[in-house]
Amino acid sequence: MRAAAAVDQDRLWRRHMAMAEIGAIPGNGVNRPCLSSDDIRARALLLDWLPRGRQPAVDRIANLFVRRPGRDPNALPVVVGSHMDSQPAGGRFDGIFGVLAGLEALEALDAAGIATLHPIDLVAWTNEEGGRFQPGAMGSAVFTGALGLQSCLKLTDRAGIRFEDALQTTLAATPGLPRRDFRFPIAAYLEPHIEQGPRLENAHRQIGVVTGIQGARWYVVEVTGEAAHAGTAPLAGRKDALRAAVRMIAALQELMHDPQDQLRFTVGRLEVVPNSPNTVPAKVSFSIDFRHPEARVLDERGGRIEAVCRANAGPCAVTVAETFNRAPCVFPDAIVDAIERAAALAGHSHMRLPSGAFHDANFLADVTPTGMIFVPCRKGISHSPAEYAAPEDLAAGARVLAATLADLAGGAAD
Ligand code: GLV
Ligand code: MN
Ligand code: MN
Repeated sequence: MRAAAAVDQDRLWRRHMAMAEIGAIPGNGVNRPCLSSDDIRARALLLDWLPRGRQPAVDRIANLFVRRPGRDPNALPVVVGSHMDSQPAGGRFDGIFGVLAGLEALEALDAAGIATLHPIDLVAWTNEEGGRFQPGAMGSAVFTGALGLQSCLKLTDRAGIRFEDALQTTLAATPGLPRRDFRFPIAAYLEPHIEQGPRLENAHRQIGVVTGIQGARWYVVEVTGEAAHAGTAPLAGRKDALRAAVRMIAALQELMHDPQDQLRFTVGRLEVVPNSPNTVPAKVSFSIDFRHPEARVLDERGGRIEAVCRANAGPCAVTVAETFNRAPCVFPDAIVDAIERAAALAGHSHMRLPSGAFHDANFLADVTPTGMIFVPCRKGISHSPAEYAAPEDLAAGARVLAATLADLAGGAAD
C-alpha cells in the first residue's frame, strides 16, 4: 500500500494538462497524430520528466521504453504504459493517461522506497490510434510480431508522407538513444486507460478491472465509377461511385443490424473524387470498423461484407481490402485478480468489465500475461474533444497501478 499512497494526484493532473497543450484544438481537444512534430514534442516532454538516472531507449518503430531497474538484473521486466498519439479530433486522456499513470507509478515506487525484484519498463507505443497511418495499434503489433515492420514502412498518410520518413524524423529527434529489440521477453504487461464507455460512471465505480477486449475488423472499400458532367450526363448511363457507395453502406447497415446492440459497425471515413458539386463522383473510398465480443460473429458477418458490396455495386467496380483483424482476447485470471486485489487494497470501488475499444494490450496479450485498469470518463465520451476524466479518478487508476506493480514485480515489504 505504500506505493499507492505515494501517488501524487496534482502532479499527475498537471502533467495531463501540460501534455494537452501539445496539439491542442478548440473545445479542449487534442490532435496529436503519431510521428508528427507534436508527437515528437510530447516524447521530449515525457523524457524531460523522467527521474534522474532513468535510461530511455527506442526500438525500430519508435516505441519508447524507460527502465526502472529491479533487484534481479536477470528477471524479466514488467511493462506498463499505453500511447501518446491521439485521434484527429481526440481528447486529452485517451492513451496519454496510461503513459503518465505509468510514470506516476514509477515515481510512487521511488518515493515509497520500494525496490522491486523485476525491472519495470514504462512504454509509449507508436501509432495506437491509426488516425494517420492504418491500422491502429501498429507499434505493439510490430513489437509482438503480429505485423511486419516492412509492411508499415511503405504506408502513406493522406498528405502523401511515407510512414518510413515520419519514423526516421521521429527517431532522429532523439539521437543517441539505445535501441531495444522487438519482442524482448516480458514478465507481464499492464495498461491503464480511460474506459471510453459509460459503464463505470453509471455504476458509480472508480476502477474497471478489465476482463478482455472485444474483437475488431477494419476494411477499406474502393468504388470506381466514371466522372461525368452533372448537368448533362443522363442518369441511366452514369457510373456514379457515390450512389453505389451509399447503397453499399445502407446494405451493410442491414447486414450488421444486431437487436442486442452488441455489434458495433461504423463507417467513419468517406472520400469522394473529385468531390465537386457538379461532377458525377468517379471514385469513392470508405472505411469500415466492425467489432463484437464473439469471434463467431466477426467471422460470419465479416465474411459477408465483400459479397454485400459487390451486390450493390451496380455499374461500378468495387474492391474490399481488410486492413485489420483482431480476435477477441481474454485476460488471464492471475492478472485480473491481482488488479482487483490492488483496487480493494487501495480502497477504490471497482467492477469487472470488458473493453469495447481496442488497445495495445490486445497485442501484448499474445506474448505475456496482460491486464488493463480502467477509470471512468464523463458520459463515456471519448474520441472527441469533450472527453474528460476527473483528477481523482486518474489518481485512483495510478494508485491501483502502483499497487499492482508492487505486487507483480515483487516489491519488497509493500
Ligand atoms: C482505439 O482507439 C479504438 O479505436 O478502439
Ligand atoms: Mn487509447
Ligand atoms: Mn483511441
